[in-house]
Amino acid sequence: MIELSGVSRTYRGPEGPVAALSGVDLKVSPGDYLAITGPSGSGKTTLLMVIGLVESTSGGMYRLEGRDTASFGRRERASLRARTFGFVLQGGYLLPELTALENVILPMRYGPWPRRVWRRRAAELLEFVGLSNRASFRAFRLSGGERQRVALARALANDPPVLLADEPTAFLDSGSRKRVLELFDRLHREGRTLLVVTHDPAVAERARRRFRLYDGRLRPA
Ligand SMILES: Nc1ncnc2c1ncn2[C@@H]1O[C@H](COP(=O)(O)OP(=O)(O)OP(=O)(O)O)[C@@H](O)[C@H]1O
Ligand SMILES: [Mg+2]
Repeated sequence: MIELSGVSRTYRGPEGPVAALSGVDLKVSPGDYLAITGPSGSGKTTLLMVIGLVESTSGGMYRLEGRDTASFGRRERASLRARTFGFVLQGGYLLPELTALENVILPMRYGPWPRRVWRRRAAELLEFVGLSNRASFRAFRLSGGERQRVALARALANDPPVLLADEPTAFLDSGSRKRVLELFDRLHREGRTLLVVTHDPAVAERARRRFRLYDGRLRPA
């Protein structure tokens, strides 16, 4: 389903090019559960962004469902991205002035459901992450752990087959962390594909396959 061969991604930096990814080979099948660890700056977020069609590759080949992603135009990338991937961004990134419910609704504008079902769907997702009682709280009033769970509910807004999560348990206490891990297990049992970037050994342990990035190079861990 997801197939990277020799993928590189280079950024232009003030002191010359930065190779965030070099020669990355990776195959992900539907229903896989992968953990990616690695030091700060090793390319973990970049890898998720390349896979999620947010960033493009600088070299190598990225095939999604058998098709070379380099052949996609801007609109096709955007529509495939919305249909295929849910993102839990590093740090959560909720809009602070919007309520939890409104934050979950945001990506639905680009999804398949008619407007009249958005609120009900968002309420169900908040229930799934155990936050029904916080639906009408503005995001800035939520605790860090609650925000992470709203971010997870939002990532699931369009029912994506693939979830890309960047440090989803950072800053969580052990209770909230356990909850997020249980939610991931449930999503895995439902047959979703999970790619989780994490510094947290407990998260990596739950995954079925483990990888480590070091200086933009990916190795089995
Ligand atoms: N937009 C950008 N422009 C220039 N350089 C970038 C850009 N994004 C990332 N980089 C560089 O690419 C490298 C990899 O960054 P990336 O964010 O993927 O690391 P990471 O493994 O996610 O780190 P962390 O654990 O700190 O989140 C870093 O050296 C970073 O400075
Ligand atoms: Mg990162």
